[in-house]
Amino acid sequence: MSIRARGPRYVVQGSAQLRGSVRISGAKNAALAMMCAALLTDEDVVLTNVPEITDVESLGELLSSLGATVEHQGRGRLRINAAGVHTYEAPTELITENRASFQVLGPLLARHGFASSAPPGGDVIGQRPIDVHLSGFEAMGARVSREGERFVARAPGGPGSLRGARVFMDYPSVSGTQNVMMAAVLAREHSTVVNAATEPEVQELAHLLNAMGARIEGIGTQMLEIDGVTSLHGATARVMPDRIEAGTFAIAAAMTGGEVDIEDAPLPVMDGLLAKLRAAGAAITDGEGFLRIERTSDLRAVSFQALPYPGLATDLHAPMAALLTQANGVSIIHERVFDNRMLYVSELRKMGAEIVSTGSSAIVSGPTMLHGATVRALDVRAGAAVLLAALVAQGTTIIDEISHLDRGYEHLDEKLRALGAEIERT
Ligand code: EPU
Repeated sequence: MSIRARGPRYVVQGSAQLRGSVRISGAKNAALAMMCAALLTDEDVVLTNVPEITDVESLGELLSSLGATVEHQGRGRLRINAAGVHTYEAPTELITENRASFQVLGPLLARHGFASSAPPGGDVIGQRPIDVHLSGFEAMGARVSREGERFVARAPGGPGSLRGARVFMDYPSVSGTQNVMMAAVLAREHSTVVNAATEPEVQELAHLLNAMGARIEGIGTQMLEIDGVTSLHGATARVMPDRIEAGTFAIAAAMTGGEVDIEDAPLPVMDGLLAKLRAAGAAITDGEGFLRIERTSDLRAVSFQALPYPGLATDLHAPMAALLTQANGVSIIHERVFDNRMLYVSELRKMGAEIVSTGSSAIVSGPTMLHGATVRALDVRAGAAVLLAALVAQGTTIIDEISHLDRGYEHLDEKLRALGAEIERT
């Protein structure tokens, strides 16, 4: 008899009501981009409030493989020094670990005049092209070619020779904007990035770059004005709290009918979610960095669209769908960012959810009594959706492939246990 090797899994006993308080960790997608920014200088970049997640680990390995020093100084403090970078070719096995790794290209190209990489990895949630990144580099004078599986980018006259340009982004891509911005800060003269992404994680990176000596204006708008400088220096920055993690706990509280205080919630960037949670019947009290979510009545169906910021984040689409299985009525969800964010649908259906998807839309009928099942975390947010469903399901749910959850949520099982959930990692 052969026993198939399995990774870690969660075993969750349902019917929990979450109660208590939870502190939100640093934002994954801000931290990852900020780590790449360290490649732009020889001096130390020190980041605090960096989440302990596997995406941070694998990006750290990638930076080390390029010759950077990456030192975990404990309690979420990370020191990166890129003085020793000696290769500009990202190893394929590390670049395919996550999506953010492709953001080493912009800094390497700007500073060293050359960068090469295979296409990035990350969740299989759509086609996830990188044309916006590459055409941005080309607009600044780089020559980009494909050599086998790798993209190779060369600045016209070697290190420091990118030219400022007016860059129009076909789509306001988050990592595309971050990559192009990191190239433009060291380009000669002025760049304008038109149709830039405005996500808080893009803003966070821009603030770090300015703290390193860059000159970026228009942060948070769709038009970035960047005056190139010849060199950047080190800086220390605290990574903002993760709006997606905060949103996931807020949804969990409303879904389980509990009462949860969310500490360090980045409230000013959570409007899209909080409006929908209120409409669904959650009672929300907020103060500076503080959010209390409780539910005193039945949940109501709400329809929503997942949109670029400041719309409701695509990363909260799947967790919200899990919540809507417990709401009275029919909810309609339109995914407007990615073309394959519906992987959670089949898993929720295994638990008894009445949910169907067609193209990039899902229709959820509720409330349904969910039951325990063996399901898979098919991507980081699909994983969050099945975990939330498991919290309210009758019986035991086994969640396989939780390495996806480990990529994006810090100490998720510990945090949920502290709120009263019965969850074990086995
Ligand atoms: N797109 C293009 N051309 C490009 C790049 C993107 O058409 O060159 C399209 C994509 O096809 C997609 C849309 O733009 O339909 C959005 O993609 P975007 O590039 O903005 O996303 P990303 O940078 O790959 C980041 C986050 C995602 C988050 C999205 C949207 C990182 C590492 N990842 O991805 O986070 O969902 O922005 O906010 O920053 C997650 O944390 O679970 C996650 C997937």
